[in-house]
Amino acid sequence: MKIDGTPYRSIWVDDADRWSVRIIDQTKLPWAIEIPRLTTPEQIAHAISAMLVRGAPLIGATAAYGVALAMRADPSDEALETVVPMLAATRPTAINLRWALMRMQRALSAHPPAERADAAYAEAAAICDEDVATNRAIGEHGLGLIRARAQGRRRVNILTHCNAGWIATVDWGTALAPIYMAHDAGIDVHVLVDETRPRNQGFSLTAWELGKHGVPHTVIVDNAGGHFMQRGEVDMVIVGTDRVTRAGDVANKIGTYLKALAARDNGVPFYVALPSSTIDWTIADGLGSIPIEERAPAEVTTITGRALDGSMLTVRIVPKDSTAANPAFDVTPARLVSGLITERGICAANERALAAMFPDQALQT
Ligand code: MRU
Repeated sequence: MKIDGTPYRSIWVDDADRWSVRIIDQTKLPWAIEIPRLTTPEQIAHAISAMLVRGAPLIGATAAYGVALAMRADPSDEALETVVPMLAATRPTAINLRWALMRMQRALSAHPPAERADAAYAEAAAICDEDVATNRAIGEHGLGLIRARAQGRRRVNILTHCNAGWIATVDWGTALAPIYMAHDAGIDVHVLVDETRPRNQGFSLTAWELGKHGVPHTVIVDNAGGHFMQRGEVDMVIVGTDRVTRAGDVANKIGTYLKALAARDNGVPFYVALPSSTIDWTIADGLGSIPIEERAPAEVTTITGRALDGSMLTVRIVPKDSTAANPAFDVTPARLVSGLITERGICAANERALAAMFPDQALQT
């Protein structure tokens, strides 16, 4: 996607020095575009856990480069066995992180140590390129849904939660890919962007992305979605996900479940867009089995923004003595999901449909 006319991916390596991994620091958006240079696995781990990069597919791709940087320094079996769990521990909910690390480990085990740095770079680059192709396919399948809704209508209003756009993947995004394609195809789409407290991925990232691409959108507070649905002002919901169980339960950013409940009550279709690397074939029951990341209470008790004089400001917004809880994700049961938009097509959120769509992957468990 483009930022002010220049094409970007969310992660890349320097042309002149492939041992420098470049990312867009998402903690600085939308106020500044800072592009740090990451050269060690420890820096990669920090970028993931402090959310300089975030979004399930992107943290997987970033971790893959973390393995490559580790192999450059020390390609031994021991180094590989150390770096994989170190990177896996950075964030617990998104299965894409584990998926990418397992893929790297499998690929590198087939090579003698002397070949591992080059092999790791090639595998990380392949993960990134495949992510772009996968998201493009998700976009094309989702576009069909939006096109169908657009028939005879003036405008299609789509609500989304958090950020599942190009900045959450290597390019295109998952939930936002169909929206970008619909907009590019001349369909009149309008996006209701949930602010997504506490880290505000909606108003700081999704609104920024959509604005850069010229997609009409309106930022709303997290509690407003049900109200807009009751008034008939939401035609569909599309969200991303960090992990889908083989039975179709969906973990996504905290607050997604409430949107799914409101959508069901109002007859609004609720779609989840995902690459198959987000499916955890090892578990069925999302409520009992998906680890939910608990982040620092300070993310709830404070808020950061730009003061009117242009300086960045972090202020406390909760009484000094109050405690705060900060679960980062929740689980939407499969029964509330109208369909899963994948790179192979759209399927129902249940075990039979998912296994029929991905027989090659389902059979591996
Ligand atoms: O905590 P975050 O910002 O990493 O959470 C991101 C989400 O919840 C996204 O919806 C999900 O990772 C899908 S990104 C294509």
